Amino acid sequence: MTISIPNIGLGTFRLKDQVVIDSVRTGIEVGYRHIDTAQIYGNEAEVGQAIAESAEHGTARDELFVTTKIWIDNLAHDKLIPSLKESLRKLRLEQLDLTLIHWPSPNDAIPVADYMAALAEAKAAGLTKLIGVSNFTNAQLTQAIAAVGAAEIATQQVEIHPFLQNRKVVEFARSHGIHITAYMPLAYGKVMQEPVIARIAERHQVNPAQIALAWALQQGFAVIPSSTKRANLESNLKLQGIVLSAEDMAQIAGLERNERLANPDGLAPVWD
Ligand SMILES: NC(=O)c1ccc[n+]([C@@H]2O[C@H](COP(=O)([O-])OP(=O)(O)OC[C@H]3O[C@@H](n4cnc5c(N)ncnc54)[C@H](OP(=O)(O)O)[C@@H]3O)[C@@H](O)[C@H]2O)c1
Repeated sequence: MTISIPNIGLGTFRLKDQVVIDSVRTGIEVGYRHIDTAQIYGNEAEVGQAIAESAEHGTARDELFVTTKIWIDNLAHDKLIPSLKESLRKLRLEQLDLTLIHWPSPNDAIPVADYMAALAEAKAAGLTKLIGVSNFTNAQLTQAIAAVGAAEIATQQVEIHPFLQNRKVVEFARSHGIHITAYMPLAYGKVMQEPVIARIAERHQVNPAQIALAWALQQGFAVIPSSTKRANLESNLKLQGIVLSAEDMAQIAGLERNERLANPDGLAPVWD
């Protein structure tokens, strides 16, 4: 059976302690069924708590799609699987739905083939249903495909919003049939200040965040916006029926300005 990634997920980067518990609990309550965390976010235990509490309130674990990401310190072959077992323990889960390599090994110190093999072993051992990558250059994705095969790579999660459309990365992944997840789809709130998006939103009688998310969905990407507010969580999920015209899509395409928000020193590869 092919397992697919729900096209709208809930991001949890930066959210800690009670804030993340509340965001995930409210998110599940209003209808999110896909949750995105990572080892480095330091919130897997709280996400796990919110999932457990939601189960007590009627949303069973098997209705949810949960993603975590392996941090760069855990890419060595002898560390990856133990680190994923630790993530499962914190999340109070028996199996992840999706496990990503969060960032490629800085300077490719650990070869892509090594950690992709370890990730494939984690899947074979039943620790995760799907595996994938994040923040990979096209060269690194080529190596990942050589290591495990394109069909094994469920998604490439990359920064995509109207100001960084990442077209080379999207086209390359697509040419291998690899799905794309758009992270920071609201440009961490910046799309709300963009007049072109505001005008399109007004025409469709929705808000600017919904336009940015609909723009990504319309290209076939999954989106994982985060929010700490119930009203935003709700409206970010209400995207059915928003159909952007070719003219709307062209106007948003024109907002590309290579504005990369996630570009950590010492971690980011030389981007395509
Ligand atoms: N793989 C990676 O390396 C990577 C890197 C970065 C992020 N990610 C993932 O992508 C997720 C999303 O990225 P992000 O959280 O950095 O940024 P984002 O989702 O683009 O933006 C979140 C910001 O937008 C605001 N917001 C959300 N909905 C809104 C709405 N409807 N109206 C107005 N403001 C709204 C939120 O504020 P309020 O709380 O006030 O709503 C928050 O400040 C992360 O949480 C994480 O899971 C992955």
